[in-house]
Amino acid sequence: MRENCTSGLEGGGAEPNRPSLPLSKTAGQTRPSGLRSIGTGPMPVPIRPEVLRNVELDYLGILFRWMHILAAVTAVGGTIFVRVALLPSIAVLPDDQRKALHEQVRSRWIKFVMGAILFLLASGFYNIIMKEKPPGVTALYHALFGIKFLLALVIFFVASALVGRSPALAGIRANARFWLTLNMVLAITVVCISGVLRALPPGSKPARPAAVGPEASPSEFALRR
Ligand code: HEM
Repeated sequence: MRENCTSGLEGGGAEPNRPSLPLSKTAGQTRPSGLRSIGTGPMPVPIRPEVLRNVELDYLGILFRWMHILAAVTAVGGTIFVRVALLPSIAVLPDDQRKALHEQVRSRWIKFVMGAILFLLASGFYNIIMKEKPPGVTALYHALFGIKFLLALVIFFVASALVGRSPALAGIRANARFWLTLNMVLAITVVCISGVLRALPPGSKPARPAAVGPEASPSEFALRR
């Protein structure tokens, strides 16, 4: 029964509209034809090897995605909290207490700000390098990514100035209300742009290097120039 089923699929005909099921590598049995099957019932569902390859997880990609999302949540959430809750709250304290609390918060928060910047840059570059692989991304994606990247650099600069102690950037700290508001608006904008980037369709970069010369057909050659 199983053999009939397998050879039926090799012809490409059996149950073409069957919905795909969750797959597990261990559940499959190797067939002489190279096909595997899922399910343990009397009639397991045979599946093609290329389908199995497609369900392999990109562990590094997931790790960098976690890094990016966690760092973004920390940086954006922290900025909003400081602007809307912490800043107005410490303003009611006497001067000496306000300065002491500010220093306590600053010395702890700086580690998270620096960590978030490092994580966002590392995972962001990984993301964009992966996105550039075929089929690549569209011109609109590049334009929006450029805007996002520039805004992110402004956010990183302002956040570093606010938690740092450089005398040259004391002016930014003296006007923390304005700069925190700006950073909050920019950070929310960056998250919104990122959501659009995620939703954009892929590009149309060819999957293999362009064949030029006698091996390419005339139309192929013309298209790839
Ligand atoms: C304030 C800084 C940043 C914030 C708040 C931020 C936020 C986000 C968010 C929320 C996503 C969507 C994550 C997902 O759904 O998996 C994302 C994706 C992404 N980010 Fe960022 N990011 C920041 C900085 C950066 C930087 C500096 C880079 C580049 C070096 C970068 C490159 C990317 C790329 C390429 C994606 C994938 C977009 C896609 O799905 O096509 N990000 N970012």
